[in-house]
Amino acid sequence: MERRGVKELERWSSRLVFVLAAIGSAVGIGNIWRFPMVVGQNGGGAYLIPYFLAVVGLAIPLMILEMAVGRHWRRNLVASFGRAGKRFEIVGWLICLIVLLILSYYLVIMGWTLAYMLFSLLGSTVTFSSFTSSLEPLACFLISVLATGLIVSLGVNMGIERTVSIMIPFAFLILVALVLFCVRLPGFHPGMDFFLRPDYSILSRPGVWSAAIGQAFFSLSVGMGILITYGAYLEDDMDIPQSALIITFSDLLAAMLAGIAIFSLVFTFGLEPAAGAELAFTTLPRAFELMPYGQIFSVAFFALLFSAALTSSISMMEMNVAAIMGQTGASRKRASIFLMILLVALGTPSALSYSSQDLRFFGSRILDLLDATVGTIGLPIAALLVAITFRWLIDDDILAGQVHLSERWLRALRTLTKYVIPAALLLITAAMIMEL
Ligand code: PHE
Repeated sequence: MERRGVKELERWSSRLVFVLAAIGSAVGIGNIWRFPMVVGQNGGGAYLIPYFLAVVGLAIPLMILEMAVGRHWRRNLVASFGRAGKRFEIVGWLICLIVLLILSYYLVIMGWTLAYMLFSLLGSTVTFSSFTSSLEPLACFLISVLATGLIVSLGVNMGIERTVSIMIPFAFLILVALVLFCVRLPGFHPGMDFFLRPDYSILSRPGVWSAAIGQAFFSLSVGMGILITYGAYLEDDMDIPQSALIITFSDLLAAMLAGIAIFSLVFTFGLEPAAGAELAFTTLPRAFELMPYGQIFSVAFFALLFSAALTSSISMMEMNVAAIMGQTGASRKRASIFLMILLVALGTPSALSYSSQDLRFFGSRILDLLDATVGTIGLPIAALLVAITFRWLIDDDILAGQVHLSERWLRALRTLTKYVIPAALLLITAAMIMEL
């Protein structure tokens, strides 16, 4: 008997909106503040070698596999895992939990970007330390949960499509405008020198290779079943490998453009290139303060971060909503409300860890702790479970049925997804666990 919910699965209304939604999932905080810094600190242009290899050899093949699995059965993630046997559904739920935990703190950071967008609109300069010694981060987190939940509760066509069709072109527009301005700044050349000058000695460090793989998967939102979920809404005539290339190219482009803009600014104003939250919420606001029309740039930059974060959080939420709807028969509205409540419960400790409450666990802020554990190790584990289940446990030739490529390319895709990806992921998961 078919489960309830399966037959009414929604469809993307065009090929373009699917690509926009997948780009929306991929382009996020990871591209804008993480990628440039990781590159700058790990050998500049030389880092791009392991990164491209990870993207081309591992992330793109897995992305193609995920979309193929999604369209093949048109099921949510949990039901797709169930195809390997009922008891494998629990593995699907485990991945849902990993994504939900990542989402819980991603929404906290999205709240910060919202706050800073409003601060810049109002023209007030608020330092990160004074912002995080109030309860505003908690309020902004709750707004982020509400916004994400509301959009997802409206459904694939009315909610997700409409949001990504506005937000993604808007985000790229801001990014291109920022870059056009930044290439003329005096800090452009020293910035690019820091960002891209290759230091090939890093290629012998295994840690750089595993970090590059982790960054590639996180940035492309691959390995967590998000593309299985989005793939289930795909039309049959859509070319999967071609879409994978467009999504990947856009994600790389966004990351490179962000790097160009950020380092030109940092070096023009003689600031220290810093990492993560400090870069976005302390260093760059200082640059905006110093530059002409800084307020406009500041609003634009935080609006960019916010829209990138929102379209990523939507994808993480949709995957969970689809699983709950498909497996319990609950309506989309109920599933969304349930998840919003759950997210408030899961994310509040992270929100409070960067607030006046300064909530810590064994001395670390909860948000950092979650990022270092679930956000870092959970991802390769989830990707490993996806690859093994759909390439080893289920024998159907899903790839050949869904992916129309020449026999040679198909063979390469089969080898990569069956042997190379699991082996690489096993290796980096083991290395990461040993480093803990
Ligand atoms: N890819 C997103 C980013 O770069 C983050 C993300 C991770 C989105 C996992 C969905 C799933 O920020």
